[in-house]
Amino acid sequence: MEPTRDNPLVRFTAFWWGIGVISLFGVLLLILWLRSGGNSGIEPLEQAAAIKRYEIRAGVDAAQNANLEWKVVEKGSTVQVPPVATFEMVGGQLLASKPSKVEDPAQVIPNTPTAETLAGGPSADYDAVDALTPAAGTAPDAAVMAKGEQGYLLCAACHGPKGEGVQAGDITVGPPLAPSDWVVGPVSNLIRIQMRGLTGPIHVSGKLYTPVAPMTPMGAASSDEDVAAVLTYVRNSFGNSAPPVLPEQVKALRSEIGKPPLTEADLIPVK
Ligand code: HEC
Repeated sequence: MEPTRDNPLVRFTAFWWGIGVISLFGVLLLILWLRSGGNSGIEPLEQAAAIKRYEIRAGVDAAQNANLEWKVVEKGSTVQVPPVATFEMVGGQLLASKPSKVEDPAQVIPNTPTAETLAGGPSADYDAVDALTPAAGTAPDAAVMAKGEQGYLLCAACHGPKGEGVQAGDITVGPPLAPSDWVVGPVSNLIRIQMRGLTGPIHVSGKLYTPVAPMTPMGAASSDEDVAAVLTYVRNSFGNSAPPVLPEQVKALRSEIGKPPLTEADLIPVK
């Protein structure tokens, strides 16, 4: 038996020391909390960052709302007879879409059959796809243009109803499609952007844009005909003029789906 441990006075003192030390930590935490602003107006870092995000979001929403008439979007194409409502069209496309195999190289295990197929598999020949483009001056089909106009309602959210681009102050939501040297340039670039998305700063007709968010891949869920139609439409609207895009060109580049988003450097230069 140790005399000190059993001494009630020592135990009593130790108990209160313990309580004291714990309370001291509590008081220190309270002081730190109060100094960092507590619940008052001073924002901790996290909140300050969130406020900036909400500001950007509000700006983007306002710019998009200013551009898009909900009634127009709901009503759908003005050219197609009878007009098909946009949401109906998008829903139909989603229902008709089939899951596509996504083979991100970073996720493929080395030495597996998939890795071997990918390594030995032919990478798409972009020049061959571009060579299929009809001759300059080939007029687009009216039915294809009508289908494309409808599909474009989705693009309009980021590229503006007239392809003029969407800006929220100095924030770029989407760069213009008119004028755009990409839109009237090699078709393979346009199809690959649809299949893989696009990220990072981009020069469009000589001007540098740094969008607030990347363009997501839009083409994977749509049919070859739908992708070809929307691209044919932008190539022949808003003052643009370029030969149509063919569904077989889109088909030939479906192998791009699942690859990482493109940057400007991955595209065939347009100048
Ligand atoms: C969610 C917004 C968004 C939607 C929807 C969208 N884009 Fe984009 N698009 C972008 C952004 C952002 C860029 C630039 C990406 C970058 O370089 O960071 C871009 C770039 C492009 C470019 C190349 C640059 C240029 O301005 O010419 C083309 C072509 C294009 N988009 C076509 C389309 C088409 C066609 C559709 C509809 C099928 C579409 N986009 C839908 C946001 C969008």
